Amino acid sequence: MEKKKFYITTPIYYPSDKLHIGHTYCTVATDAMARYKRLTGCDVMFLTGTDEHGQKIENKADEAGVTPKEFLDRIVEGEKGVLDLWKLMNISNDRFIRTTDGYHCEAIQKIFRKMYDNGDIYKGAYKGKYCTPCESFWTESQLVNGKCPDCGREVHDAEEEAYFFRLGKYADRVRDLLENTDFLQPKSRVNEMVNNFIKPGLDDLCVSRTSFKWGIPVDFDPGHVVYVWVDALFNYVTALGFMNDRYHDYEKYWPADVHFVGKEIVRFHSIIWPAMLMSMDMPLPKHVFGHGWLIMDGGKMSKSKGNVVDPYVLAEKFGVDALRFFLLRTFPFGSDGNFSNELLINTINNDLANDLGNIVSRTVAMVEKYFGSTLPTERKEKDCDKELTDLAVSLRAKYEDDMENFRFQKALEDIFTVIDRANKFIDENTPWTLAKDEANRARLATVMYDLLETIRICAVLLTPFMPDTAEKIFERIGANDECKTWDSAEKWGVLPADSTVVKGDALFPRIDAEKAIEELNAIQAEQKKNAADSAVETEPLSEENVDFDTFCKSDMRAVKIKACEAVKKSDKLLKFTLDDGSGTDRIILSGIRKHYEPEQLIGKTAVAILNLPPRKMMGIPSCGMLISAVHKVNGEEKLNLLLVDDSIPAGAKLC
Ligand code: ME8
Ligand code: MG
Repeated sequence: MEKKKFYITTPIYYPSDKLHIGHTYCTVATDAMARYKRLTGCDVMFLTGTDEHGQKIENKADEAGVTPKEFLDRIVEGEKGVLDLWKLMNISNDRFIRTTDGYHCEAIQKIFRKMYDNGDIYKGAYKGKYCTPCESFWTESQLVNGKCPDCGREVHDAEEEAYFFRLGKYADRVRDLLENTDFLQPKSRVNEMVNNFIKPGLDDLCVSRTSFKWGIPVDFDPGHVVYVWVDALFNYVTALGFMNDRYHDYEKYWPADVHFVGKEIVRFHSIIWPAMLMSMDMPLPKHVFGHGWLIMDGGKMSKSKGNVVDPYVLAEKFGVDALRFFLLRTFPFGSDGNFSNELLINTINNDLANDLGNIVSRTVAMVEKYFGSTLPTERKEKDCDKELTDLAVSLRAKYEDDMENFRFQKALEDIFTVIDRANKFIDENTPWTLAKDEANRARLATVMYDLLETIRICAVLLTPFMPDTAEKIFERIGANDECKTWDSAEKWGVLPADSTVVKGDALFPRIDAEKAIEELNAIQAEQKKNAADSAVETEPLSEENVDFDTFCKSDMRAVKIKACEAVKKSDKLLKFTLDDGSGTDRIILSGIRKHYEPEQLIGKTAVAILNLPPRKMMGIPSCGMLISAVHKVNGEEKLNLLLVDDSIPAGAKLC
């Protein structure tokens, strides 16, 4: 019989920064799903990759002083890059796409042209704001206080020639898809899409840019690059070989069974993506699942906030499987989850060290102690075992229902209900008492076998979540390949009757919570500090020399601030009355009102250039200039009036 196909994808990540635990969350979930489907016998295609075009990447590369491709190669293929991370996390993707791969770029050009040829892409004008010094085009919403978000200067109305996709044309069909099918999950996301985006009216979508170069060129109109989301969304089919010869799996795997995506990109996947597929006359994916975010300190993780959690650090400290488990065990997949170090450590200690680790080590130790590691085949069934065995064999059906509906947390909860029961089963049957009397040997062997079988079934179902741990458990309980299959997970008595156990180290050593939390907090505090530091920007140093004589002509002096007041009708200016050592008061106006309360500055010693020609501001002549230090923090300008030691007398010359 031909295997059932299953095609699943993660979003392709922007490699503009190192990936963090939030990205890992989605990839681990997809991996668990892919492994589950393989376990059940499907022919799985699991795709992930990187989304490598766009302004953001271009800017980052500029900042780093390298070409975009050099920047990308480092962060995708370099040490502790994206590929390394997925290897570390034991991600079993079948394919990895980089949108800078040649085959993808060529396919995107063909796709763009096809939608142009069928009339769904047309040329128009993109209206927005332009910052001339930066040569940047901005939309109204990108502006900061109505000014250029990059340099803070005035912008003006402008039009940019651009291509548009007739998104509006597909509004009704998309709405029908969202409202009347189970395409978009969880269901709660449907209203959000319909109410926020479709009901107010879908505007046509701007699908080309001319304001930067790092993108796939529109081949019939050089100067335009394809909008990064068009480029990105079609990765799901180009990676299968659609409109290219690099792969030949399009017919086999498309349409996808499910795209897993974070909630903020549900709009792209549930509105724009189906509309473009409709335009291309291609089948639609069966499902899009919008998962929640891992939140830290009340906000989405971001490098500039310094609240990102590094998966490398956690995996190294606690192990890859523990981390995988934590991510899917703790938060319902569709909702946001508050990440905390305490939660991570408690989950590992409670579920893995205490419950799972314990049941395996206790059982194996008892079989070793009471039977020299190999179970005798004699058995004596007793009624009290029925509850445990029933629970164990009925687990698979519940688990399957959970997994088919992407309820990973619930699937794990179900497994741990059985593990809990098994731990209690030990306490109820007190094997240590049974072991005191040789007459109980058959009964004791039954208790042990029941435990081993229960552990086996749980291990099979844990495989998608913790592949290495499941394998270790199989080894310890003497499970052969037959004992690891999906079929065997709803059967009782698959483990050989005379199974031999193997003792080993604790699967999950108990973590000293206090110590670990302290260490993690220290690492994260350091990160925050670095983020704050790196958010500081200062002007590049001047490359132009000033000749020495010219410089020496500046008459720079220490001045005492005798009075300071706001200038009426000006929101910028402060008026300073200064003692410059000459005996006559000097008036200087300075545009620093935003940064200081006038009273704060009275009595302080500042620095001014005195021999500038007088300038009138708001009708008041200003004779000189006070010197300030300026820098930016997170794009916001900071200014400090240069103040010097008060022991320096008024009029002291600076040289
Ligand atoms: O959006 N918790 O890429 P991306 C959970 N290139 N998920 C998180 C998260 C967090 N804290 N932070 C990020 C893109 N993610 C596009 C995708 S697909 C055709 C193109 C998730 O690197 C986020 O929700 O910004 C998204 O699904 C994924 O990581 C990639 O984010
Ligand atoms: Mg994003």
